[in-house]
Amino acid sequence: MSRKGLLYSILTHVKQHAVLLLLLLLSFGTNAQQINWQEIEPGIWKGMVGIPEAYDLLKASGVKPNHDALAKLPASPFPFSKNEIDGKITDGKTLLRFPLDKTEQLYGFGLNFQTVHQRGKILQLHVDHYGEKDNGRTHSPTPFYVSSRGYGVFINSARYINVYAGTGVRKDSKEAPVSKDRNTDKSWSAHPYSDAVEILVPAAGVEIYVFAGTAPMDAVRRFNLFNGGGVLPPRWGLGFTQRVRSLYTSEEVEKEAASFEAKGFPLDFIGLEPGWQSRSYPGTFEWDKTRYPQPAAFVKRMFDKGIRLNLWINPYVSKQASFYEAMKPYTGSHTVWVGEVPDFLKPEARKIFFDQLQKDQVAIGISGYKIDEVDGYDSWLWPDVATFPSGISAEQMRQTYGLLIQRYSVEMFHEKNQRTFGLVRASNAGGVSMPYVIYNDYYKHEDFITALINSGTAGVLWTPEVRASKTAEEWLRRFQTVIFSPMAMINAWASGTQPWSYPEVTEQVKELSLLRMQMMPYWYSEFAKYHFEGTPPFHGMALEAGFTQQIKKETINNNLEENPYAEATVKEIKDQYMAGENLLVAPLFTGQTSRKVVLPKGKWYDFYTGELAGEGQVITVTPGLSKIPVFVKDGGIIPMMNPMLHAPKRGEKVDIEIRYYGTKTGKYMLYDDDGETFDYEKGEYSFREIKVLKDSKGLFAGTVSDPVKGKPNTIGNISWKFMTK
Ligand code: GAL
Repeated sequence: MSRKGLLYSILTHVKQHAVLLLLLLLSFGTNAQQINWQEIEPGIWKGMVGIPEAYDLLKASGVKPNHDALAKLPASPFPFSKNEIDGKITDGKTLLRFPLDKTEQLYGFGLNFQTVHQRGKILQLHVDHYGEKDNGRTHSPTPFYVSSRGYGVFINSARYINVYAGTGVRKDSKEAPVSKDRNTDKSWSAHPYSDAVEILVPAAGVEIYVFAGTAPMDAVRRFNLFNGGGVLPPRWGLGFTQRVRSLYTSEEVEKEAASFEAKGFPLDFIGLEPGWQSRSYPGTFEWDKTRYPQPAAFVKRMFDKGIRLNLWINPYVSKQASFYEAMKPYTGSHTVWVGEVPDFLKPEARKIFFDQLQKDQVAIGISGYKIDEVDGYDSWLWPDVATFPSGISAEQMRQTYGLLIQRYSVEMFHEKNQRTFGLVRASNAGGVSMPYVIYNDYYKHEDFITALINSGTAGVLWTPEVRASKTAEEWLRRFQTVIFSPMAMINAWASGTQPWSYPEVTEQVKELSLLRMQMMPYWYSEFAKYHFEGTPPFHGMALEAGFTQQIKKETINNNLEENPYAEATVKEIKDQYMAGENLLVAPLFTGQTSRKVVLPKGKWYDFYTGELAGEGQVITVTPGLSKIPVFVKDGGIIPMMNPMLHAPKRGEKVDIEIRYYGTKTGKYMLYDDDGETFDYEKGEYSFREIKVLKDSKGLFAGTVSDPVKGKPNTIGNISWKFMTK
């Protein structure tokens, strides 16, 4: 064939394919597309609609599924008939529909603060600072939901996604609701039954994932393991952390640390706020030499006292930064507080930015960062018309900026073989394994607890941080919950508060801080389960086996003028949560002296006394101001250590006290490794099995399996405490 002939034939081919593609695309406009499902991991199916975009949440996070752990989960079939899910492309957007039966409840759709039940919601999933409404705008608007029927769905898109979670009533519904006459029919409903979760993705194609399970927790585990498994913090990350006033000097920081020591309060790391930098908002990412004249010597002195340092940053670059000129070509079209926005999708930007952090801070022993203001609000961040050198849209950048900076910051620590644990204000699906905890500027205590519940289905960690309080009562109530959370922290950047700032309750606060330290073997083992098995260490009751929703009608406002569509709804449990496998935490808030606690099936015991508290029932507790009610599952084992002021050092042996509650046979997997490095990724870890059985005389006896040969062993003497008499 002549060259001309060859060219002609290629062109004809291309034309034919283009016509086919066009026909195919047009047909999406009218017909629902049959989705081709592929089981990519046991119990996880991937489906594609249209042509998914090149950039998505999984690409942004770069995480890899934990195949081995996924293979160990019990097999489960596809949760519904595949034909019940459909997708089509219209107007350049993807329309998705998932089935929803009459009794199903939905959880998830990111880090919500006021609601746990998501059925009936209309949301736009959009990374933002939480604005006091559960409308989809939040720090991690994870496009993942879990059904009470035990399956999960994930939409892998870095777009602002619209969700109609059982709100739209379709004409083609198999069980379309019948219309009723409101004039005469008392059973008329403002919310007729909707049989679908419908989702609009503003792109001409998307990947969707379905996670099977027999219970909601299975689907969550699959989602987490698919995202690489949860983070395993260093032991010190689970101790106590204090963030000091913004303009503190190194001298003041050292004085503060000395007060903790002198007063007997635990402290593992101190957070320095914007004032550590020579300029902030926008930042220079270098030490302020007037406040911190000798950073390396200071960091070392602190480390020698057992205290690490964490640095606040937001990533917006000042003209005064030493690397400003080098960075300039790799920043977006708009500024944030007049700082330039690095495009972390450009390898050059990453190199320049993280080289600065690495050589100036990580190299001298800085243990981690607090990555602020990568979430919103709109008026602060770049607008959706901004452009970035990588070509990624402003929208996709907004949805993934937090993920990108988490991901690439970890590399600095990985290279040093030292784990990090810090804070971040924005994340998304794919962030499960990132060593960061979300926080914000909002401060409603009740809502902080609901966020803790929702973090368990959003693939993130959340801290109900303590800042300042109006009263000693509020201080103590807040302190009680931060101790039972992923990061025990006072954020005193503005207030300068210290644990002992409210003298009336200082003793109680101290006791709680020490309890946090005593519980470290438990916290550490629970995080190991997050990492190796995907079980979120903090989660709501909906993920708990044996928990049945107490269906109670909420009183309704019957004033027709104010609310003509008023309807009673099911009460959601949003003020009690699980802390690890064995503990149920039921906080009290300022002004409360008693509260109701819904105990799941089986017997539950008082954490402090070991006494039976109830069995599958609603109890009322009046614990007094000093106590946060905590209950232990029957057969529950809680490994504890001495109340040390700093987490055990790398490889340091500590004695363990094993507390056992109840009457049932108990089993607990106690995790162990060196506590600080990434060697666990190479198998340098072990789980030791703790068992409690009744012996021939009917007495309880406990055993612990031997240390695993060749693996790190930090467990010294073991003693037992049988809590239930
Ligand atoms: C806020 C952040 C606070 C504190 C402050 C310092 O954005 O949420 O925790 O770090 O910045 O300027």
